[in-house]
This record gives sequence, C-alpha cells and structure tokens, in this order.
Amino acid sequence: MSWWFAPFYDGFMRKSEEACVREWRRALLADVGGDVLDLGAGTGANLPFLSRDARVVAAEPDPAMSKQLRLRARELNLSVDVVTTDAEALPFASESFDTVVSTLVLCTVRDPERALAEAKRVLRPGGRLVFLEHVAAEDPGRYRLQRWLEPVWTPLAGGCHVTRRTHESIERAGFTIESLQRESMRKAVPIVRPSIRGVARPRSS
Ligand SMILES: C[S@@+](CC[C@H](N)C(=O)[O-])C[C@H]1O[C@@H](n2cnc3c(N)ncnc32)[C@H](O)[C@@H]1O
Repeated sequence: MSWWFAPFYDGFMRKSEEACVREWRRALLADVGGDVLDLGAGTGANLPFLSRDARVVAAEPDPAMSKQLRLRARELNLSVDVVTTDAEALPFASESFDTVVSTLVLCTVRDPERALAEAKRVLRPGGRLVFLEHVAAEDPGRYRLQRWLEPVWTPLAGGCHVTRRTHESIERAGFTIESLQRESMRKAVPIVRPSIRGVARPRSS
C-alpha cells in the first residue's frame, strides 16, 4: 500500500459508498454469520453489515488500515480479531471458516489466484466466498482506457489493478460461481466503475 492511501481511503470511497457500494455490501453480507474471514479488510467497511453474532477475523497487511479498522470495530462495539497477513499465505488452519469475504481486494493482491486458493483452503465444506470487486470492462473502449491508464493508476492507488478478470480467477481457483451481478460502481473514477459481486462455492476436488 502507498503510505498515503489509508488516511484517504474512506474519503476517496465516500461518494461511491453513498451511491451504491454501501447497499451492495448490506445485501451481500445480510446473512453472513458464523466464522467469517474478511480478506484485506481495510478500514472495516464491511463490519457494520455482518451479523452481530459473527466471529470475524480481519486479515489485513497494512498497519495503517488495521488501526482504522480497530477504531471502527470499537465504535461499533464489535470484537474483531485483526491478523496482519497477506491473503496469499493465510496463517489459518484448513476448513476453519464458514464464509470468506473479499471486497475490493483482488484488484490489489499480488497474486489473486493464490489468494483465492488460500480462501478455498480455509473454507469449510459448504462454505462460501462472497465477493465484490472492480474488474476489467466488457466495453472495449473503456477496457482500452483502463489498459492505458493502469501503469499510472496502480502505483498511485496502493497497487490496485483495473484490468483483472476476477470472475475467471475465481473459477480457475476451484470455485463455482453461484450468483454474479455486473454493475457500474457509480461516482467512482471511470476506470474502476465496472464491478462484479456475488457468491461462489468451492468445487470439491
Ligand atoms: C481497496 S482496499 C479494500 C478494503 C476493504 N476490503 C473494503 O471493502 O473497503 C484493499 C485492501 O487490501 C489490502 N491488501 C493489499 N494487499 C493485500 C494482500 N496481499 N493480502 C490481503 N490484503 C491486501 C490493502 O491493505 C487494503 O486494505
């Protein structure tokens, strides 16, 4: 992450959160309880929407993000176990979570398929991956714009990539996608607007 990213992240996201993302989080996370792993949990934007009785582990490598997450958890009176780790090498036993949540993270991790393989490993049988990610545009004109701007955008935006075909990575990592919605993330910078959200389940191997 860039050193300046954490203090500005919530402000940077505010308009999109108000326009659509907050409602998407609410709908996706409405019935998410049990043992929950929030990958790249950032400042804790998902916390208000998880079941109050969920046992939440927040995996977050950036200490500045974790600090804000802890503050948010305290404000919400939630107990959250914050673990400093990359998603590509999770320090958790296999089959230890009911749900893995990944929101706006697979754009940033160095190796999305490795992170997803780890997500699959730590999910219990019948568990699910809940995702909300911005992705490569389907529209060729916007995709060209994303490709052109990505080399400038990625270092500025904490390692965020805008041309990833994340649904393909989810499937390649051994998940079956059960639901998938594509929608424009309104009020976001145009190259991060194309988004997908939904639920996937590990395929048995
Ligand atoms: C754009 S923020 C999204 C935060 C939050 N999930 C949300 O929905 O607002 C991306 C987060 O991924 C974290 N991150 C970056 N590289 C990571 C990695 N390899 N593994 C896990 N998290 C990572 C960043 O520190 C940051 O908090």
